[in-house]
Amino acid sequence: MKWKTEILNLKAYQPGKSIDEVKRKYGLEKITKLASNENPFGCSPVVEQMLMEYKPVRAIYPDGYAASLRQTVAEHLDVSEKQLIFGNGSDEVIQIISRGLLKPGVNTVMPAPSFPQYRHNAIIEGAEVREVALINGEHDLEGMLNAIDENTSVVWVCSPNNPTGCYINQTDLLQFLSSIPEDVLVVLDEAYYEYVVSEDYYDALSLIKEFSNLIVLRTFSKVYGLASFRVGYGVGNEQIIQTLEPLREPFNTNVLGQAAAAAAIQDQEFVENCKLHNRKGLEQFYTFCDEAGLSYFPSQGNFILIDFNRDGDEVFHGLLAEGYIVRSGKALGFPTSVRVTVGSEEQNSGVIEAMKKLLASNLS
Ligand SMILES: Cc1ncc(COP(=O)(O)O)c(C=O)c1O
Repeated sequence: MKWKTEILNLKAYQPGKSIDEVKRKYGLEKITKLASNENPFGCSPVVEQMLMEYKPVRAIYPDGYAASLRQTVAEHLDVSEKQLIFGNGSDEVIQIISRGLLKPGVNTVMPAPSFPQYRHNAIIEGAEVREVALINGEHDLEGMLNAIDENTSVVWVCSPNNPTGCYINQTDLLQFLSSIPEDVLVVLDEAYYEYVVSEDYYDALSLIKEFSNLIVLRTFSKVYGLASFRVGYGVGNEQIIQTLEPLREPFNTNVLGQAAAAAAIQDQEFVENCKLHNRKGLEQFYTFCDEAGLSYFPSQGNFILIDFNRDGDEVFHGLLAEGYIVRSGKALGFPTSVRVTVGSEEQNSGVIEAMKKLLASNLS
């Protein structure tokens, strides 16, 4: 086969372990999955109610333009409908952007470690990947600026960053955006935006008005609790969005996903509640880490990266045996850490107890 040589070393995405897999392997009844930064509280009851009553026609294609969802999101964000592009998760918007702008001979600048799909898609498109190491969990914005040259076409920033949870503050982001050439697209991935509490977090939507080369990615998979429905979107300058639109598959978001997302956005009280619980949950982890002498990055997301100062896979397997699925930091670029999604108060207490047990057994 005449494969693109770039793809031959790529590995298929490794999802977190499934609950059934772990139940079978360890003979456990109760498994708690805190591995993929999903919402432990599920989705809004407004969505549940809508889904019970909603009877979409099965045999007819969905509205590929997602007109109704588009209108709802545009109103919610106070942007024009033409400033939005919807994807089968924001994963697909990352893919569309990469397809439109990356090719052999151009390069793309990104933080590392960060969300792996930026790199993955860049490799598929044959672009040169320029990874700029995080400094203390945060983007090295100066380093990223230095990595940009006349062949750079896309710069990725992730705020809050997965897997560290660190964010970029308003002053730094403004300075960064002002220094980037206008013909370089900046992708600001805000998958965890709704969880942010920092007061010096920027307002991405006003930045879009100021910077015509900025696209912001958001998703219904995280705080809205709709990861299984696969709806994410990009919001940016109308010209950029309209150039990307033809690259989108005709029916990329499905009928249930569109309806669920439109219902979810109506219930901002649910979002606020989840944000509040998430903060309290993070405090549980901070207290544990401080008492146990473990270092971590204060997080603006719904997850926390904890450094156990020992092989991350070992910690991961130890917690698995106790019925908790987390993410080993090994595959995430932090070999002695694990990343834990903030769960309900009870789930957090449970995984913290399991961590304490593990630490005690390792110390003896
Ligand atoms: C930073 C970041 N961006 C994008 C995504 C993709 O989200 P989705 O495709 O579910 O919208 C994730 C998922 O974990 C993420 O962590």
